[in-house]
Amino acid sequence: MKIVVTGGAGFVGSAFVRLALAGPADIHIANVDALTYAGNLENLAAVSGDPRYSFHKADITDPAAIEAVFAEFQPDAVVHFAAESHVDRSILSPEPVIRTNLNGTFTLLEAARRHQTARFVHVSTDEVYGSIDEPYEADEHYPLRASSPYSASKAGSDLLALSYCTTYKMNVSVTRASNNYGPFQFPEKLIPLMIANALEGKALPVYGDGMQIRDWLYVDDHCRAIRAVLEKGRAGEVYNIGGSRALPNIEVVQRILAANGQPESLIKYVTDRPGHDRRYAITSDKVERETGWKPQVEFEQGLADTVRWFRDNTGWIANVRSGAYRDFYESNYATR
Ligand code: NAD
Ligand code: DAU
Repeated sequence: MKIVVTGGAGFVGSAFVRLALAGPADIHIANVDALTYAGNLENLAAVSGDPRYSFHKADITDPAAIEAVFAEFQPDAVVHFAAESHVDRSILSPEPVIRTNLNGTFTLLEAARRHQTARFVHVSTDEVYGSIDEPYEADEHYPLRASSPYSASKAGSDLLALSYCTTYKMNVSVTRASNNYGPFQFPEKLIPLMIANALEGKALPVYGDGMQIRDWLYVDDHCRAIRAVLEKGRAGEVYNIGGSRALPNIEVVQRILAANGQPESLIKYVTDRPGHDRRYAITSDKVERETGWKPQVEFEQGLADTVRWFRDNTGWIANVRSGAYRDFYESNYATR
């Protein structure tokens, strides 16, 4: 199977590529990535010499560049990860988010349509359902109530992808996962940011009262679910993928401090995120029933492995915390 993976140099995409090529499977992957601040070829060192892997530096909003990749590679499938993925950045600066997440998805769908690509998996998020009151859990028919420019752009791209199934009869499925964590995650998201700050003895900025609930999913479990949907998912269907581990943010931060043997006095409560969703909660019954997938990694184990990985890879953290990272950190946190 020849797969175009977009965003394969990012956190989840690189985990997918590493897992897909870990065995002897007859899979060929063309990784299409623009290498934005979040894309890092260091994440792919384990596969860079594999003859089944190729890298194509291209922006998914550039139709000519995407056409060239499809014409050369003639993929059987697309697994579409590339996105501007950070809610805070989408609040500070929505334009690249709308461009990549909406226009980029459109460009890929058009290329897949022209080339009659047999399968298209659009990787999306549980954030499209917005904040969900206790005790409810969203299934795939729950209304879309996106709160941020990021989640609205993902909701829009989900609908666009599904429309290509309805209108052009393309074999498209959409996945909606909960919060991922694990090695190689960019230190702008809650868990890697808190670990990176804790390693330096810096303040850990908790938004609002820290009682917002997120459902944590180990990144490899997410990738195994995407693989299952790629192989067994049905055309025109949406699949929620959750970790079945809901925790308030403050408890996650306390666990990170405990794992590092550091005091809770490092926690700093800061001004809340505008439009902050209070609680995410989804049911993954459908993907479990139809594909047999289940999450395998317990949060305790996954978090311990993640903390250890960051502790062992301080060089990786230093490399990704460029001047641009420091500029973002300043604009997001200085006035909080
Ligand atoms: P990430 O920010 O770590 O990586 C995004 C990748 O996309 C980077 O390699 C970047 O260079 C690339 N990219 C961005 N704009 C591009 C463009 N215009 N053209 C080509 N490449 C571009 O993101 P992630 O956390 O790995 O998320 C990947 C996907 O999974 C996203 O679609 C996101 O919405 C979805 N998702 C993520 C999570 C999570 O918790 N991380 C949960 C659910 C869904
Ligand atoms: O639910 C899936 C989504 O999870 C993905 O679609 C997104 O790509 C991914 O970024 C993530 O979105 P969140 O906004 O939930 O993730 P983030 O790591 O930014 O924040 C998690 C929670 O922690 C959220 O309630 C905000 C809070 N937070 C975050 C940061 C960065 C803080 O309290 N302090 C912080 O500094």
